[in-house]
Amino acid sequence: MKKWYAVIGDPISHSLSPLMHDTWFKENGIDATFIPIHVEPSNLKQAFESLQTLGVSGFNVTLPHKQAIIPLLDGVDDTASMMDAVNTVVRGGKLYKGSNTDGDGFVESLLTTESSPDSKVLLIGAGGAARGISFALKRRGFGDVTITNRTHRRAEELADESGSKSMVKAEAEKKLGDFDIIIQTTSVGLAENEALPISLQNIRAGTLAADIVYNPIKTPFLKVAEEKGCKTLNGVGMFVYQGAIAFEKWTGLKPDTDNMIQMITEKLG
Ligand code: ATR
Repeated sequence: MKKWYAVIGDPISHSLSPLMHDTWFKENGIDATFIPIHVEPSNLKQAFESLQTLGVSGFNVTLPHKQAIIPLLDGVDDTASMMDAVNTVVRGGKLYKGSNTDGDGFVESLLTTESSPDSKVLLIGAGGAARGISFALKRRGFGDVTITNRTHRRAEELADESGSKSMVKAEAEKKLGDFDIIIQTTSVGLAENEALPISLQNIRAGTLAADIVYNPIKTPFLKVAEEKGCKTLNGVGMFVYQGAIAFEKWTGLKPDTDNMIQMITEKLG
């Protein structure tokens, strides 16, 4: 029987996950389909019960349900537990277990730039996305990670938990030239006229500037960094790798990420 997978979120119509996973199912000869489902927060429990009743084989969870789904599941793995957020649900028999592939997806994307774990990394932001990335960087051997955030207390807390350092924003702006990799994890700067979460005045040419946002492909943060002579990494790679890790959890197969990054870049570009 044809299997089916899904992504639930609110909003959901913009999601590129159906296109990505349907392409990978086809490429790998898997008889399955991937469906976007609009689920409002008040309907989450009912929606999950319906997914189970209808026999979903696995699904992605996106905003705003990444935390709210946790108590409904049969358990979560270490990564999801550490992040207190789930983006991937894997079915094993009758059990539905939560995982989180966002942080590892970012680091996989970062490693395509041949960045060394010896790099000095600055993480801008201390929300859910920064949390996943800070833990994943540590797991992958990046030993020198500093977190800065508008609300410094949150940076301190996340740094304590993830074994990183924290730095107040003004100091990070002054010392920006010390870092090899600067990762933008806030939702700020999506709009053209919005101020960047941090001034890039002192950024060093040759630094790698990475953004987790993939639409637009070139965020204002990346534009300014590029003007300053930085290398840039947009969020498409993170999106594709978080999906590839989920795909492997569901099917046991590693999908083609290079072609997918190219396809999505062309679609958004
Ligand atoms: P997410 O899960 O997407 O990371 P979040 O947990 O709400 O979302 O975190 C949003 C991040 O963006 C935080 O680091 C937030 O900073 P605060 O902790 O100070 O709120 C950051 N952020 C949001 N709006 C911002 C702004 N206008 N300027 C700077 N940082 C901002």
